[in-house]
Amino acid sequence: MELIGTTLLVCFLVVVFVAPGSSRRKQFPPGPKGFPLIGNIFDLSLKELWLSLARWASKYGDIVYIHVFGTGLVFLNDAEAAVDLMDRKGSIYSDRPHLVMAGELCGGYNIMSFTGYNNQFRRQRRLMQRALTPLVIKNYHPLLEMETIPFLKRLLSKPTSYVDHIRRYAGTLTLNVIYGHQVTSDDDRCLKIAEACADVLANDIAGGGFLWLVDVLPFLRHLPMWVPGSGFKHKAIRWKAQLTEFATVPYEEFKEKMENGTAKLCYCSTLVEAAGKSMTEQDEFDIKYSANTMYSASLDTTITIVTSFMLCMVQNPDVRIKAQAEIDRVVGKDRLPDFNDRPSLPYLECVLSEVFRWTAPVPYALPHRLMQDDMYRNYFIPRGSFVFANIWTMTRNEEMYPNADAFVPGRFEADVDEEVKKKRDPRNFVFGFGRRRCPGLYLAEQSTWLLMASMLAALDIQKAVDDKGKVIDPEVRYENSVFRMPAQFKMDIRPREHARKLMNV
Ligand code: HEM
Repeated sequence: MELIGTTLLVCFLVVVFVAPGSSRRKQFPPGPKGFPLIGNIFDLSLKELWLSLARWASKYGDIVYIHVFGTGLVFLNDAEAAVDLMDRKGSIYSDRPHLVMAGELCGGYNIMSFTGYNNQFRRQRRLMQRALTPLVIKNYHPLLEMETIPFLKRLLSKPTSYVDHIRRYAGTLTLNVIYGHQVTSDDDRCLKIAEACADVLANDIAGGGFLWLVDVLPFLRHLPMWVPGSGFKHKAIRWKAQLTEFATVPYEEFKEKMENGTAKLCYCSTLVEAAGKSMTEQDEFDIKYSANTMYSASLDTTITIVTSFMLCMVQNPDVRIKAQAEIDRVVGKDRLPDFNDRPSLPYLECVLSEVFRWTAPVPYALPHRLMQDDMYRNYFIPRGSFVFANIWTMTRNEEMYPNADAFVPGRFEADVDEEVKKKRDPRNFVFGFGRRRCPGLYLAEQSTWLLMASMLAALDIQKAVDDKGKVIDPEVRYENSVFRMPAQFKMDIRPREHARKLMNV
């Protein structure tokens, strides 16, 4: 999900500089007072912005409005408001901000997270929903299970490089599930192209937080290539070619396998088979680019959720020990857990829910651009506003989750009626809302469960100890502005006594 970060980062930049909408004498939702013209630009520190947003939520209530150069930023702090607007009024709350450099010139509009609320979006979204239902994902279970042991082995061989191993896991898993492409070596061509492409998206197109002048002055897109200052157009051509190569190479490889009958069951095969002989050029474009979208969309979220899980285990050894005891009792010590074990591991289920809640991996989701003026709870929300679901505040709701900052899986063990159970399920929030809600949620949910179960079965993840035998408390820092991803921290990862047997070594 490098592109999710990219999208959000660029959106913030665009909102800062792009021409304002007109300010009217209407009752906007409350929020911190900004300066004339520039608005609240100085309130938008990108470092752990979710903490500032939470302070505004407790001061101003469920809906907070600020503006930057006249463009509204609306934060919906409770789930009801998010459902009312993004879900019930989805026909006007599902657009994305317009990005000239990333979207238009670099070809980002082919990637769904950047696409506006148009026909292409609706078609690709339908494809993803069709091929990523819980029922279809069951077919991918063998592919998910195949990636677990290599990941555990890599993690044990060099524990300090755990982020690289998770990135590699997310990459190989996605290539496998999406294209049926199995990565067998570090030099794998598809993997290399994929990693380079994710890098271009995150570090070049949205790199370093710098703003593209062409987003501010869109007429610059017409600058002739030979004019000084048109360097951005040369870069855009290069990057677009890279993004196109990544969309094309794994898809062409898949097609070749499909033609010679060696393709594995995967996202692309499910859709190509469903389209059958009547597949049009447009169908193929949509399959190819929806597949491409998913690779980029899964990277950062997977790294965020898995590193957060590891941090939770380091900080809460009692939870790890209890979950391991449940796995040992139910699964035994001769094999790794698989999806058939899931219903028999209720405590692990609570740990998964709490990891999602406590982490809130994308704390204020992605901006939905409002397509026409709207009124809500007697407040005026102007057309063109960027509307954010404040997932962080929802997961810190003290009424629903007492002592919300603490990591307590046991909160989900309590016997409550079905309605409360449904309402407090963090999956309702952490994947966003409405027509833009994360289409990869079932895949993410199931792959996270499997990885967590396997890591707990095979590994002890705990606090590191220094040369003098002193226990090191992990230093927790959040440097990424979009994902609540713990920066590299120290921990001790070692195999449990029966791990070799589990990993067939
Ligand atoms: C822990 C894992 C994940 C979390 C917490 C997560 C969360 C989110 C959130 C909050 C959004 C923004 C929703 C909105 O705009 O309201 C999103 C969008 C998206 N996610 Fe995920 N995601 C995860 C994993 C994945 C995976 C594995 C995939 C693909 C296989 C994926 C594909 C996407 C796509 C394509 C979008 C853009 C949807 C659109 O623009 O309509 N996500 N995700």
